[in-house]
Amino acid sequence: MSRAVCPGSFDPVTHGHLDIIARASALFDEVIVAVGVNPSKRRLFEAEERLDMLGRACAGWRNVRVEGFTGLVTEFCANQGARAIVKGLRASSDFDYELPMAQMNFALTGVETVFLPTSTGQSFVSSSLVKEVAAFGGDVREFVPDFVHERLLARLAER
Ligand code: PNS
Repeated sequence: MSRAVCPGSFDPVTHGHLDIIARASALFDEVIVAVGVNPSKRRLFEAEERLDMLGRACAGWRNVRVEGFTGLVTEFCANQGARAIVKGLRASSDFDYELPMAQMNFALTGVETVFLPTSTGQSFVSSSLVKEVAAFGGDVREFVPDFVHERLLARLAER
């Protein structure tokens, strides 16, 4: 069975992430969406909230499951029996950032990284931009699932 891991912080999940997850699910028998749970990093959403939103967003794919992880992504992949990491590339700047991580991860355990170019309609979408635009009152409805949009507005209203 071919198994791949899609790691990220998903704070919150966007249609850009879901585009990559959907395409990974068509390439591999099983895809594990791995939510980085690093308590030292400040996030808008707690790990449980990010996991919950991803679980809802991925419910339609039978070969996708969502897990939290701490520590090295390579160890998570080894523990899960995953031979590949899938990452989306929006622009060459993403490649510059991702290449050394892919090479380090391969050097550590031999896990491969598969890069998928994001669909053209999603190439400018990121969690950080969505949060920034929403914080200033911009309309980000088209970039995230509806239930994520509702939670995003509610969280920003609390601050
Ligand atoms: O969505 P993000 O913030 O780009 O996700 C980053 C993430 C969680 C994928 C990355 O920080 C990661 O893999 N963290 C686990 C720690 C690790 O393995 N670091 C070494 C990478 S070479």
